[in-house]
Amino acid sequence: MTLPAKRIAITGAAGQICYSLLFRIAKGDVYGPDQPVILQLLDIPQAMGALKGVLMELEDCAFPLVEEIIATDDPVEAFKDADALFLVGSRPRSKGMERADLLAVNAEIFKVQGKALNDAAKRDAKVIVVGNPANTNALTLAEHAPDFPRENITAMLRLDHNRFLSQMAAKAGIAVRDIEKAVVWGNHSPTMFPDWSNTVANGKKVADIVDDETWYRDTLIPTVGKRGAAIIEARGASSAASAASAAIDHMHDWINGTDGKWVSMGIPTDGTAYGIPEGLICGMPVTCEGGKYKLVEGIEIDDYARKMIDLSVEELKEERQAALGK
Ligand code: NAD
Ligand code: LMR
Repeated sequence: MTLPAKRIAITGAAGQICYSLLFRIAKGDVYGPDQPVILQLLDIPQAMGALKGVLMELEDCAFPLVEEIIATDDPVEAFKDADALFLVGSRPRSKGMERADLLAVNAEIFKVQGKALNDAAKRDAKVIVVGNPANTNALTLAEHAPDFPRENITAMLRLDHNRFLSQMAAKAGIAVRDIEKAVVWGNHSPTMFPDWSNTVANGKKVADIVDDETWYRDTLIPTVGKRGAAIIEARGASSAASAASAAIDHMHDWINGTDGKWVSMGIPTDGTAYGIPEGLICGMPVTCEGGKYKLVEGIEIDDYARKMIDLSVEELKEERQAALGK
């Protein structure tokens, strides 16, 4: 028997991340190979021509799971009855633009989309914000969607998490699949904190396998933090296929579970855990089960971790001030 289709809203649909993301979602990489989908694609009016081309390519793939594709520049139409939302579209920094200006422009976009989410999406829809500044855009969205459950609004830290795993695996000579209990705390920005203090592989601490704290602090952490900029430098454009892959990982795991494995997600804070104040969207360790994520509790935070987490949280507070004036 064919299942009823899931509605997946995706913004920034004519952009480069979506040029990878849409095709993987259409193939079944989020909900699985038996779940039909309806794609609800949003972009701005000026991008409708390019989006038409993407639509033609999606049609030409003849994906068996795709029941319908809607392409629109109206957020309410795009978010209507959505089960999952990938908010990828945002305004990139242009020449001469200050960080505060970037935050303000994006705050306006996510204010409009927050209202659309509030008015149109299913109440149990899952939202991932990818568009930068991802954590603060997610917060703006939540602020303007008062009737939508805040815990269902998340930001993408998974690309940083995946980058962290790969760097550790290469250095330690271990397989990515064997690494457990890795986490990236904080903001999706160079202040993020990839934390290996609990990370193990095949029963051994990765910190003991590598046995080089200087490499961890002076090479690994900045490499992960500045990886986005390194890709822009090398490619002449920001990460796209890896960002799409991380977004798929994030939503796939949230829906299907992680089997006890820790993953990093930007989630709303309530002020009760790890000394992080309430009212932010912060990278934290979670496990997922039954369609819900759960914060990993009881991790010991040493002095170094405290300093690093606080630094990133401070930046999140400054971004909140710039975007929301509070
Ligand atoms: P892109 O410029 O190729 O595409 C962005 C698309 O968004 C464009 O088609 C644009 O027209 C559209 N858009 C702009 N404003 C919109 C709005 N109000 N509603 C709907 N669509 C809108 O960019 P990209 O490479 O696809 O990257 C998208 C975003 O993802 C950027 O902000 C980028 O910095 C960010 N990003 C985040 C991560 C992460 O780990 N969180 C990783 C990589 C990239
Ligand atoms: C990334 O981490 O690859 C991106 O967030 C970089 C960027 O500025 O778009």
